[in-house]
Amino acid sequence: MKVLTTAKEVKEHYRVSVLRSPGFVPTMGALHEGHISLVEQAVKSCRMAAVSIFVNPTQFNDPDDLVKYPRTLDADLKLLSEHLRKNDFVFAPSVEEIYPEPDTRRFDFGELEKVMEGAHRPGHFNGVAQVVSKLFDIIRPSSAFFGQKDFQQLAIIRELARRNYPRIEIIGCPIVRENDGLAMSSRNRRLLTQHRERAGEIFRTLIAAAAMITDYEIQEIKEFVTDRINMIPGFRLEYFEIVEKESLALVRSRIEMSPEREYYGCIALRAGEVRLIDNIEVRLR
Ligand code: PAJ
Repeated sequence: MKVLTTAKEVKEHYRVSVLRSPGFVPTMGALHEGHISLVEQAVKSCRMAAVSIFVNPTQFNDPDDLVKYPRTLDADLKLLSEHLRKNDFVFAPSVEEIYPEPDTRRFDFGELEKVMEGAHRPGHFNGVAQVVSKLFDIIRPSSAFFGQKDFQQLAIIRELARRNYPRIEIIGCPIVRENDGLAMSSRNRRLLTQHRERAGEIFRTLIAAAAMITDYEIQEIKEFVTDRINMIPGFRLEYFEIVEKESLALVRSRIEMSPEREYYGCIALRAGEVRLIDNIEVRLR
């Protein structure tokens, strides 16, 4: 695998390697098995794969979160070298390379960005769209792989691609979990031991909430989730919403749910100082 740091080097790599338009996996590094599952899928389904590692400052609405975001480039490159082939590459640019001047573009994703993460993290998805569009312009992939863990991000990227990059296929990949069910995340390594020990309860709560849909109203399910999460010392629920998969329209009552559509229960919470998100499919039987 090659490690490239500038757009110019990417161009040169395409020129000499004949293959271009790779399968692309954008990341912010601090790689774990969740990221690697996307990398493996890109390698399996594309003759060339590219992985970016870039902690994108414009998507952090909380400056403290940006400062504390784990940066483990050497370990990331070592791990990727075990999965990438000779002609595949890692793109690890500097902030100046991506933002030689401030990016003032404003993306409007309408209702998609008004709920959940969009409502709780102002400017977050604008920053995600800024960086992903810049990365798409540099890498020019044929396909791009995103985790369903960041459920709303995936919906927004699909919309970005539909509008501006119709030739890039967006592929959603399943959530990879720890043994106790905690969704893998780069932020998990910042959890205090006592919080990590209880964090498996997040997924167990989601499973229980999804099963309640047959017998309980949305409001009752929300109360159940709120109580269960807030009962854990140091944990505080930010939101739990059941949304329609594509429009992200909030479901307020079960009568709004159509058997033809798919729904997800999405949770965000704080465990101590660490903000975690997760989601689960909610099936009407
Ligand atoms: P990051 O949080 O590093 O995640 C990179 C990709 O890995 C995302 O598509 C995310 O959904 C996926 N991922 C993370 N944890 C996962 C898990 N447990 N199972 C499956 N996939 C998982 O998401 C970002 O970076 C950034 O917003 C980015 C798209 C790179 C733009 O800066």
